[in-house]
Amino acid sequence: MSLEDVLTWVEQGSAEAALARQIDFDRLPTHVAVIMDGNGRWAAQRGLPRVQGHRAGIDSVRDVVEASARVGVQVLTLYAFSIENWKRPPGEIATLMTLLKYYLRQELRRLLDNNIRFKVVGRGDELTSDVRDELAFATRQTETNTGMQFNIALNYGGRAEIVDAARGAMDAGVRPDELDEDRFADFLYTAGQPDPDLLIRTSGEMRVSNFLLWQIAYAEIWVTETLWPDFRCRHLFEALHAYQKRERRYGGITRPVVAG
Ligand code: IPE
Ligand code: IPE
Ligand code: MG
Repeated sequence: MSLEDVLTWVEQGSAEAALARQIDFDRLPTHVAVIMDGNGRWAAQRGLPRVQGHRAGIDSVRDVVEASARVGVQVLTLYAFSIENWKRPPGEIATLMTLLKYYLRQELRRLLDNNIRFKVVGRGDELTSDVRDELAFATRQTETNTGMQFNIALNYGGRAEIVDAARGAMDAGVRPDELDEDRFADFLYTAGQPDPDLLIRTSGEMRVSNFLLWQIAYAEIWVTETLWPDFRCRHLFEALHAYQKRERRYGGITRPVVAG
C-alpha cells in the first residue's frame, strides 16, 4: 500500500493523515501483535462496570483490524483472553465470550470484504461449544482469503503453547536429533507465520503477560498509556512510526554506513 492509497481513506488534515506522511509503507512490520489492555480502567474512569470497557473495546478492534489490513500488515494477532483470565469473575468471562461471538457475527462481512483470513490461537478446544462453533464458522468462511492473517489469541498462554508444541512434536515422532528451532516452530499455534516484528501494549503496563513468548524473541515493544477502548488507527500509525525509528540488531552490531 502506498501513501497515496492511505490518504484516500484517512480524513484529510487529521492526525492519521499527518502520521501517514511520516510512515514508509514499504517497510511495515510484517506481523503486529497487540496486548489489548485497560478496558477495566477505562470503564472505572467513567464510573461504569468493567464489562462496559470490554464492550467499548470492540470499536477499537474493528478500527485496528481494518486499518492494519488496509495498510498491508500481513499478520495481526490480538490478545483477547489469556488462560490466566479464567481467574476473573464468571459474569465478566461470560460477557467477554458473548462479545466475542457478537463481534464475529457482526464483522464477518467486513472480514470477507477486506480479504482477511481469521484464525484462533490458543486452546480452543477448552471453550464452550457455542463459542467454538462461532469461531469455526468464521475460520471456515475466511479460509480461502488471501489478504491479512488475523489471529485472535483466545484461551491463550505462551507457556501452554510451548508445552502443546512439545507434545505435538513428540506425537509426530520427531527424534531429538531432528529437533531445532525451525522444526519446533512448526508445532506452535502460529506455524507457518512470521514472528511478530512489533508488539504493542496499551494502558502503560510494562509486561508481556504470557503472550507469544517464543515468537516475540526479537519483537520491538511499543507501550502506550492509551487504554484499549481509546485506541484507534491513529495510535497504530504512531506505533508503526516509532517502530520504523528503531534499530534492530538481533544480537549483531550496527552495519557501518560506508563499507570498509
Ligand atoms: C483487557 O482489559 C481485556 C482483557 C484482558 C480480556 P482488562 O480487563 O485487563 O482491563 P484492566 O487491565 O483491568 O484495566
Ligand atoms: C493480558 O492482559 C491479557 C489480555 C490482554 C487478553 P491482563 O490484564 O490479563 O494482564 P495482567 O494481569 O495485567 O498481566
Ligand atoms: Mg488488564
